[in-house]
Amino acid sequence: MIRTLLLSALVAGALSCGVPTYPPSVTRVVGGEEATPNSWPWQVSVQYNSNGKWYHICGGFLIANSWVLTAAHCISSSRTYRVVLGQHNLNIAESGSLTVSVSKIVVHPKWNSSDVSNGYDIALLKLAHPVSLTDKIQLACLPPAGTILPNNYPCYVTGWGYLQTNGPASDVLQQGRLLVVDYDTCSSPDWWGSTMKTNMICAGGDGVISSCNGDSGGPLNCLAADGRWEVHGIVSFGSSLGCNYYHKPSVFTRVSKYIDWIKSVIANN
Ligand SMILES: *[C@@H]1O[C@H](CO)[C@@H](O)[C@H](O)[C@H]1NC(C)=O
Repeated sequence: MIRTLLLSALVAGALSCGVPTYPPSVTRVVGGEEATPNSWPWQVSVQYNSNGKWYHICGGFLIANSWVLTAAHCISSSRTYRVVLGQHNLNIAESGSLTVSVSKIVVHPKWNSSDVSNGYDIALLKLAHPVSLTDKIQLACLPPAGTILPNNYPCYVTGWGYLQTNGPASDVLQQGRLLVVDYDTCSSPDWWGSTMKTNMICAGGDGVISSCNGDSGGPLNCLAADGRWEVHGIVSFGSSLGCNYYHKPSVFTRVSKYIDWIKSVIANN
């Protein structure tokens, strides 16, 4: 009996991230599409305050009850932030969503805002209080340290960002299917060349499938062999030439490079 209980506790623990209550619709739609509501339940909206009003600035994702992962370039030390969890349409009040203020921000010490191509575009936001997990608010799984996805591995980027180059942002959460471009390809001269570093991951860049969907700080979600979604990338930068530029895939911070840093920040804060 105790063994059975222990085993089910272990199984429950193993499934406590990356398994949405409302499964995402994983299609091969080209150009991005509206996500099934609450099907990426770790996705959050990072918002800043200006003159008493709150504005969506970046995506992010929940990795522990009190911690959100986002991009360092989203953060300006002079601003006040909050995160909205469990939301689909940013412009209406939705049941099950939750707004929590950010009590502490830890930007990677090697981040240099004058040198995005150096990488380290990663920051942790500590929430003012731990959130309870629900059908609409769940944790993302992080990949094992050092994991490298093979070329053409399919993933989904999600966010409320631009739908097309210079286009309007979206009210409802969008998803876009992107194929991983491996380091050797992405760092070759006619792709990103030396801008691409080993602490990054590229996805997209065929000039057809939108890599505009999603916005900075948001997750690149990739289905693992065990059926859980792992977040392998944090949206970092793209081509100034446009969202869908041929051979200029979206570039993400490679999460599997930062597992030890993430664990130590959480343990020490
Ligand atoms: C940040 O990057 C800029 C541009 O490459 C460089 O001049 C500067 O020295 C860097 N700062 C630090 C602290 O490394």
